[in-house]
Amino acid sequence: MNSNGREQWGSKVGFLLAAAGSAVGLGNLWKFPYMAGKNGGGVFVVVYLGILITLGFTLMAGELTLGRFTQLNAIGAYRKISKKLTWVGAIGVFTAFLILSFYSVIGGWVINYIIKTCTGALSTSDSAALGDMFGQMISDPVMPIIFHGVFMIATLVIVLGGIGEGIEKASKVMMPALLVMIIALAIRSVTLPGAEAGLEFFLKPDFSKLNGALILDALGQVFFSLSLGMGIIITYGSYLPKEENIPQSAVYIPLIDTAVALLAGFAILPAVFALGFEPTAGPGLMFITLPAVFAKMPFGTFFGLLFFVLVLLAALTSSISLLEVCVSYVVDEWGWDRKKTTLTLGFVIFAVGVPASLSLGPWADIKIFGKGFFDLYDYVTQNIFLPLGGLMSCITIGWVWGVDNAIKEATNNGKVKFALGKVWAFLIKYIAPLAIGKVFYDSFIVTLF
Ligand code: PHE
Repeated sequence: MNSNGREQWGSKVGFLLAAAGSAVGLGNLWKFPYMAGKNGGGVFVVVYLGILITLGFTLMAGELTLGRFTQLNAIGAYRKISKKLTWVGAIGVFTAFLILSFYSVIGGWVINYIIKTCTGALSTSDSAALGDMFGQMISDPVMPIIFHGVFMIATLVIVLGGIGEGIEKASKVMMPALLVMIIALAIRSVTLPGAEAGLEFFLKPDFSKLNGALILDALGQVFFSLSLGMGIIITYGSYLPKEENIPQSAVYIPLIDTAVALLAGFAILPAVFALGFEPTAGPGLMFITLPAVFAKMPFGTFFGLLFFVLVLLAALTSSISLLEVCVSYVVDEWGWDRKKTTLTLGFVIFAVGVPASLSLGPWADIKIFGKGFFDLYDYVTQNIFLPLGGLMSCITIGWVWGVDNAIKEATNNGKVKFALGKVWAFLIKYIAPLAIGKVFYDSFIVTLF
């Protein structure tokens, strides 16, 4: 607790792991490799890293600073800077709500795959059979919804029980374990015969594949993966003590997150090529290729089980942060009690996720703006709301609150070193809003009209 009675992180490591736990999730392990696969491989990686270096660190530092200064939830934080900005926080909460609804569907797939690994159903390297199995799983009208419910209940239980002890402790074991596993898998994948083509695809950028949609995909992916643009990092920053070194944390969190994403790329893409799959398979990539890699490994069932359990835990440390943002808003602003809020929101988010699951099977023909529900939720959040939230956070910090105030807070009145403070100020005030605004305009607004 600080002098205002607001809860604070137990330790520096605890905070870093919680923030990294929110950042590292399905976005890294499941989404990054297939986004890279869909967008030409190396060129996507280069654009991703470029955006990470210029904008990822910048916004991470900005959101942490805004959170610690205001000591408030996402909506409260924006409102404290200016009443006119309350809607930015509101969009953030809504985005978290919508992301969680389909994130939980994928979490359900992971639970299903844990069971399938145990029963031996996945012990084959026959790519066609694995592809069929994945297709059948996601298009089933009932099972994925049941597992979506199970994932949501797991998220609820953790959020209900409070995050403190349990999560901080679990993360300390889980995150390093995940890292070791993913390194082992990457080594296995890279050393498969025929992996070179995949390595080349992942590492050698083919700039002829560069286009506006790719850049928007990469921008949205940076925000999604770092949990930026929707107030989660603001909320986590609000529990930071004043002595905490924000510039340093703003480097560590994106570094850990990116390392895991790149490792997931190494674990999956070379194997995709070696085993004769298409890198453009989309959301099924992790679920179809990795089981084939495990089937070719000694003790594959054991490693497969371990891997999917870790994916599940990584997904849970992200999903609780998504639910927490919604819960803290309703508790703070509507005055509901925590238990009622958590249960109600959990149920509503589950219900909103059901059409996402059905859209991959029985509701495949229902299209809104040319997209099924699953793709629509994904596109709207990642390619519209997150960039918009990011843009508004730069404007809020750079122009309304002001970079001088922000630097004063980030450095705790000059007590903490912020070597690149001037560069950061320039980036958040001019470069970030212009870049986000331009990409957003070119690839979204223009295609709309
Ligand atoms: N960053 C998480 C991931 O990569 C997902 C997430 C997005 C979590 C937004 C919280 C907020 O899986």
